[in-house]
Amino acid sequence: MTKLQLPSNSKMLDKSFTYGVATASFQIEGGKEHRLDCIWDTFCNTDGKIADSSNGEVACDHYNLWQDDVALIDSLGVDAYRLSISWPRVMLQDGTLNQDGVDYYLNIINALNDRNIKVYVTLYHWDLPQYLEDTGGWLNRQTAYAFAHYVDLISKAFKGKVHSYATLNEPFCSSYLGYEIGVHAPGIVGKEYGRKSAHHLLLAHGLAMQVLKENTPETMNGIVLNFTPCYPASNSEADLYATDFADQYFNQWYIKPIFDKCYPDIIKDLPTEHQPDIQSGDMEIIAQSIDFLGINFYTRAIYKAHPDDIYEQLPAPAPLTDIGWEIYPKAFSELLVSLDSKYQLPPVYITENGAAMDDSIDQGVVNDDDRLSYYQQHLNAVNDAIEQGVDIQGYFAWSLMDNFEWAEGYLKRFGIVYVDYETQKRTIKKSGLAYKELISNR
Ligand code: FCB
Repeated sequence: MTKLQLPSNSKMLDKSFTYGVATASFQIEGGKEHRLDCIWDTFCNTDGKIADSSNGEVACDHYNLWQDDVALIDSLGVDAYRLSISWPRVMLQDGTLNQDGVDYYLNIINALNDRNIKVYVTLYHWDLPQYLEDTGGWLNRQTAYAFAHYVDLISKAFKGKVHSYATLNEPFCSSYLGYEIGVHAPGIVGKEYGRKSAHHLLLAHGLAMQVLKENTPETMNGIVLNFTPCYPASNSEADLYATDFADQYFNQWYIKPIFDKCYPDIIKDLPTEHQPDIQSGDMEIIAQSIDFLGINFYTRAIYKAHPDDIYEQLPAPAPLTDIGWEIYPKAFSELLVSLDSKYQLPPVYITENGAAMDDSIDQGVVNDDDRLSYYQQHLNAVNDAIEQGVDIQGYFAWSLMDNFEWAEGYLKRFGIVYVDYETQKRTIKKSGLAYKELISNR
């Protein structure tokens, strides 16, 4: 296989459909000496947290190589680039802007605009300033107000240069992985922390939306949520109940408040100590209207009933990617159709989709047919959802290039561009060449 193809009548072949590539600050930048510490620096420095004991101090050295990387992005022919802003790079602890950090991003944004590449900014992709974690991080309600303040200053600094803002990337990961099971920074463990931190993240989203509406009504403003659709191991009543509970807990928890102004029904079943601290007016703030919804999709999960713990997730069946996630594209179209029927969705953008594969480079060539096939199947799934009436207006491949894959370190490669971490040389993989061709053949 060498090509990515869509039916000739596909809406995804219209020029108005946006194709892009995505990255996140901590995963690619390095340049640590030019910013304050974030929770991922601390987490990486804690023994046993990162699979290869690595950190983000150099990463893809995008801090120094950004001009080459912008040219690389342009060479792929994409319409848009989704990047995230490192809060500890652009803000000082006294609540003022760090102009050097702001200029760093302005240079990148200007270079993208010069090349007619639309700039999709994510304001929070997990790199919380460490000084805010020191006062409780997302368990502290004040962090939501600190976020809104940062968004106020940065959106003014970027005025007129950005196409779209996403407040948060995947609040599920920040709260559940970071504050409930502790496999992500800041590594806090306890059922009593997951929903509390999630509520403050969603409040931060709502407060930031208010700021964006005021400061930059001309940009497309919204949020990026991830979904891992839940499927039952059998049709028994117990398994169906377990699966529905997991879906409410892991998926609907983060979207329902935004569209329906309330948490899913299972909130009633949670012990008081596990409940979020909801203050009067919070749900109205969270449920601000949004201009777009970003959806990240990688895989599904299968559940069965568990005698003590409501649900139990089964091991993922084959075929698997290199990170152990099942390849099951049908769940992608089913997810999109189901969200569309449950909620009054604004236009949807697929803000992340892609696969970790065990790539090897041979004489300057990366033949990642497995990733190419993943992309083909998932582009088809998006096309199916569009045909079923879901308003999807864009698709971003995760990721532009191999990078620091959080708790997996540099062991898992998600790029459509290969990175040799010794030399920082970038090589477009076969999947990247096919993506480029799909885009240029429209
Ligand atoms: C998502 C993250 C992104 C990347 C992919 C593989 O959850 O948003 O940064 O790590 O997974």
